[in-house]
Amino acid sequence: MSRANPVAGRPGLLPWYNRNRERAAQLFGLIADEAYYSRPIALRNPIVFYQGHIPAFSFNTLIKQGLGRPSIDARLEQLFARGIDPHEDSNNVRARGNEADLWPSRDEVDAFCAEADRQVRAVLAEHDRAADALPPERVEAAHCILEHEAMHLETLMYMWHQLPLEQKRRPAGYRPLIGGAPPAQTWIDIPSGQATLGIDPGAEPFAWDNEMPGCTEQVPAFRIQQHNVCNADYLAFVEAGGYVDARWWRPADWAWINAEGIGHPLFWQRDGDQWLWRGMFDLLALPAAWPVWVSQAEASAYCRWRGLSLPSEAQYQRAAFGAPDGQPRRYPWGNAAPDAARGVFDFHAWDPQPAGSHPAGCSAWGVDDLVGNGWEWTATAFAPFPGFEVLASYPEYSAEFFDGEHFVMKGAAPVTVRELIRPSFRNWFRARYPYIYASFRCVAGAGQ
Ligand SMILES: [Fe+2]
Repeated sequence: MSRANPVAGRPGLLPWYNRNRERAAQLFGLIADEAYYSRPIALRNPIVFYQGHIPAFSFNTLIKQGLGRPSIDARLEQLFARGIDPHEDSNNVRARGNEADLWPSRDEVDAFCAEADRQVRAVLAEHDRAADALPPERVEAAHCILEHEAMHLETLMYMWHQLPLEQKRRPAGYRPLIGGAPPAQTWIDIPSGQATLGIDPGAEPFAWDNEMPGCTEQVPAFRIQQHNVCNADYLAFVEAGGYVDARWWRPADWAWINAEGIGHPLFWQRDGDQWLWRGMFDLLALPAAWPVWVSQAEASAYCRWRGLSLPSEAQYQRAAFGAPDGQPRRYPWGNAAPDAARGVFDFHAWDPQPAGSHPAGCSAWGVDDLVGNGWEWTATAFAPFPGFEVLASYPEYSAEFFDGEHFVMKGAAPVTVRELIRPSFRNWFRARYPYIYASFRCVAGAGQ
């Protein structure tokens, strides 16, 4: 069985596609030519793959499979069809030759992308001219390619982040907001009540298969930290020997940090007696008030050290979108569209900003930054909601990650576009994948 999103599309898909493509061009313009065939994250494909993959996926999904039209270049459509799931075991990385010899020339990729773009734009323009120009399953495919590219803009950023600074072109006006000391951490009581998980087919113009159908979960009262765990908080864990004490780590996580020699968050760097933060375009003295960005394994270890827990997905939903009147909210702050006053997302910044800088984005309970400034790790393994069916346009999107190894992240990072901000959107990664822009906060039982 597969499920299509049955709602007729809203107008204006071409402007979103154009915005995505312009953003992608801007991001590729930030890196030096010599980085093009490099592999900044060893377990990922080289950068050239992603330039081809985004338009190839759009063409394959909407034009070739969706409309049955002929190939542009069957070899490139196959080569660029699918990425790989990162795995922490670096022994799995196969031996490779010179990457530039294994991949097409940049001119060849550019020409393929231009033709794929031309055909996709023509179909989206047709949709935008007449609401019923495309059947519902093609409208779904159109949304699918738009959200796919939007998500890849973020994965490009993870890779760019790992490139040497000299291989990046710093944008004019790049000025990270460092801030001072972290905000005072307080505990916020969330009363027992229902969390809304997922969404019913048709309730949004588009939702991924893993978001459907909607369901609810009764959540007992709990307490949650108002702010993310900040670098200054996490430093206490590092300095207390957190990375050399097996008690705080799940066995597989403990094996991972020892095998890889990990002693601190990936975004940190030791310089003599001080800690630095490896920003997108600069090395900075560790900003104390920024949320710490870590893997789920490291977030879990910190929580265990503190005698606390990561929130479950349902607890996050309740803290972010629940309200005392029992009516779930569209955003933590209410129904107003996401803008820069509400949080750090939609490319408002390249790096995090001090926790608590956006009080206008607080949830109904007064919890800060639940959307923006880094995804929020949960303790919940990525799994389907009851009644799950794969999406017709992209059947492999979620199903093969329901393996107990991937954990749900919610919210948004600074480079998550606003179109992906909705209560039901779920992100997921392996517990031991440290490259992503993910933060966390702790929860405790109501009596703790
Ligand atoms: Fe992809």
